[in-house]
Amino acid sequence: MAKKGIVMSGMRPTGRLHLGNYYGALEKWIELQDEYECFFGVADWHMLTTGYENTARLNEDVRDMVLDWLTAGLDPEKCVFFRQSFVPQNAELTLLLGMITPISWLENNPTYKEQLQELGKTKLSKALEGAGVISKEIRQKVAQAPLEAIKPDPKKNRLELRTSGFLSYPVMQTADIAVYGAGLVPVGQDQLPHLEISREIVRRFNGVYGDVLVEPKPIVTQNRKVPGIDSRKMSKSYGNGIDLFETVDSLSPKVMDMYTDPMKIRKDDPGHPEGCVVFAMHKLYSDFADRREVECKAGQIGCFQCKKDLLGSMDGPFAEFREKRAKYDKPGLVEEILEAGSAKARDSAEATMERVRKAMNLR
Ligand code: TRP
Repeated sequence: MAKKGIVMSGMRPTGRLHLGNYYGALEKWIELQDEYECFFGVADWHMLTTGYENTARLNEDVRDMVLDWLTAGLDPEKCVFFRQSFVPQNAELTLLLGMITPISWLENNPTYKEQLQELGKTKLSKALEGAGVISKEIRQKVAQAPLEAIKPDPKKNRLELRTSGFLSYPVMQTADIAVYGAGLVPVGQDQLPHLEISREIVRRFNGVYGDVLVEPKPIVTQNRKVPGIDSRKMSKSYGNGIDLFETVDSLSPKVMDMYTDPMKIRKDDPGHPEGCVVFAMHKLYSDFADRREVECKAGQIGCFQCKKDLLGSMDGPFAEFREKRAKYDKPGLVEEILEAGSAKARDSAEATMERVRKAMNLR
């Protein structure tokens, strides 16, 4: 079957995937792999932009993430899996695109500003918890506070995160997309500002050197939203995630810790399911979610029982995933898939770079 076009997307290797990664991205990728020529990258260079201090676990994280991709149903026979750092052409294009990208575009990137603050905040409160200055409960409260409420140490924040690599994140991401000639990029809502910058960078490049690169369009994944256990966006860096392959023992404390309606104190208080993380999860895993909504609002169910019911609903699908994952967990398998995919990715990237170099008179 002829495929409809070229799709590219990437994920930072954060190790085992959480439900937000699955419902926010992977589910869509799996759907696209049949119809489009897809390049799916392990964005390990993007990972370094914020996680450069400690790379000891990087290879393990790459492997864990790709294992989760396979288990969830992404198929290397249908799409290309590659590792970003195995495609040096991507670095070359990043460098060249950097020549034409105004710094103001990067400084005004809303994701950049927000991440600087959020990461600074999380790092600060984790450090305080580590030093015994605040408890975990307070750290979680801090995590939920509005951004303006906490001012992380600006000096420390600047040193840790204000690197040229982090600022240039969207330039690298543009190269990541354009080097494969991808016209479509499935991204979550939060990545839209990045993609908008990518489109501008490509337009500017083409304006200077002729029609060389493809201007990418987003496919916004309208997938089901999954909040983290503290009700913020689920994110590894916020430490509020639920992994796809949790065991009962590891899942249980997380469910018990989930943020619920703070106004519902006694079990017969009427609740507000809309902001409740437990209810959001029931919608994904429990066939009785509708009934539960009514019961919660009517004060007919307590949060403790509701959490226990959720654990019951999640148990089956999680056990199934774990079993499947064990089948792919063979020595060398992931490495082989990434090597083969990266070779295909390099061929495609080199073809683009030949045109780019020629257009810029670099050969
Ligand atoms: N920045 C993306 C994220 O954090 C990951 C990513 C890297 C990406 N390269 C990409 C997404 C290319 C889309 C296209 O989620």
